[in-house]
Amino acid sequence: MDDSEDGSSIFAGGDIFEQRELLRVGHVPDIDRIVGRDEEISAVGRALGPGTRGSPPETTIIYGKTGTGKSLVTRCVSRQAQKEADSHDTDFRFSYVDCSDYQSDAKASREMARRLSDTLDAEKNIPRVGIGAADYRDITWELLDEHDVDVFVAILDEVDKLDDDDLLRSLTRAKESGKADAHIGAICVSNKIEYRNRLNERLDSSLQDNELVFDPYDANQIRAILENRTDAFVDGVLQEGVIPKVAALAAQEHGDARKAVDTLYEAGRIAEKEEANIVTEDHVDDAVQRAEINRFKQLVSGTTPHVKHILRTLALLTADNPGQQSFSTHEIYEAYTQLVAAEEGTPLSEDRVYRLLKEQSFLGVTESEHTGGGHSEGSFLEHRLVRDPELVIEALEK
Ligand SMILES: Nc1ncnc2c1ncn2[C@@H]1O[C@H](COP(=O)(O)OP(=O)(O)OP(=O)(O)O)[C@@H](O)[C@H]1O
Ligand SMILES: [Mg+2]
Repeated sequence: MDDSEDGSSIFAGGDIFEQRELLRVGHVPDIDRIVGRDEEISAVGRALGPGTRGSPPETTIIYGKTGTGKSLVTRCVSRQAQKEADSHDTDFRFSYVDCSDYQSDAKASREMARRLSDTLDAEKNIPRVGIGAADYRDITWELLDEHDVDVFVAILDEVDKLDDDDLLRSLTRAKESGKADAHIGAICVSNKIEYRNRLNERLDSSLQDNELVFDPYDANQIRAILENRTDAFVDGVLQEGVIPKVAALAAQEHGDARKAVDTLYEAGRIAEKEEANIVTEDHVDDAVQRAEINRFKQLVSGTTPHVKHILRTLALLTADNPGQQSFSTHEIYEAYTQLVAAEEGTPLSEDRVYRLLKEQSFLGVTESEHTGGGHSEGSFLEHRLVRDPELVIEALEK
């Protein structure tokens, strides 16, 4: 009996992916699969290095735009530091806390204690409620003492999400205030560069010397990152130009490795859905377009049906009038009332539509500009879509 007879073919994968998990969000590649961050890896290594030999680690703050490898490098190097410390008979421990999941001082402090307790295999009772942030930190210091830990590093990822700086302040002072014997350090990670000033104002100068900035990736680096993951695909299904194309687009737009990996994955999925046996550059174009449509959908997801009608009207006008990009409020209003009538709805007043259009321009969905009409007409407002009308029409389809 073959697949088609017993029905198992409905679960069969296509012929595109071999190990799709290599392209999924959340996949953490090994340190030897990290490309183009050698300097950054060394810098984080230098910060943690003393810790691996029983001396105080350097507290460091890492900045950089989204998708530049900050979390990845920090996690991989910390793991590596733990191994290195073992070879020097140093008991080095770290707790990784993603502050976007634990935004209050108490939650982040609890998570820090919990993670430490896990790595120590300590069966410490860490209450979920009823005690405060400072108590959770005391549990951390106790754990360090009870287990004779030499060096402890707290990794506070997305540190800008924390409600306040108490945790960071107490980490930088735990040793001098006699709360713990271990050397204690912190690595803070943020993609908000504005956070730097806020932090410097409040935490003296102790962190200023140890700032590390991760730059967006260039096309070659993104290309190397993607090439390192081609074993996600069945051998030979990636058309030659696919990776260079994804890399070029990504570098041009954002230099974000996460988005580039996503685009490659999406291109593969689209090929799979079409039951194609090769991934082409056209699939990449489709993937990029899909992503833009999704982003636009998100952008307008919270708006009212009338705003959607107005945007659809503008998109239809733009698509139907090649050579014309901008339309007056009145032109849009006329077309909008027809569109609403066709759906048997009741249109809003022209003044209301005018205000909603101005609001959309403020949100960056459209652009509005005053145009001097003829002598007697005075100036009026013209509106145009920022994005491709086809994309907007598709995104607004139900
Ligand atoms: N140098 C690299 N080599 C291989 N893969 C990488 C590299 N940099 C980033 N990636 C991939 O991109 C994804 C995003 O990287 P990472 O999570 O480290 O970004 P980030 O700088 O922390 O971004 P954010 O500020 O949004 O948290 C990772 O999961 C990884 O798959
Ligand atoms: Mg991150």
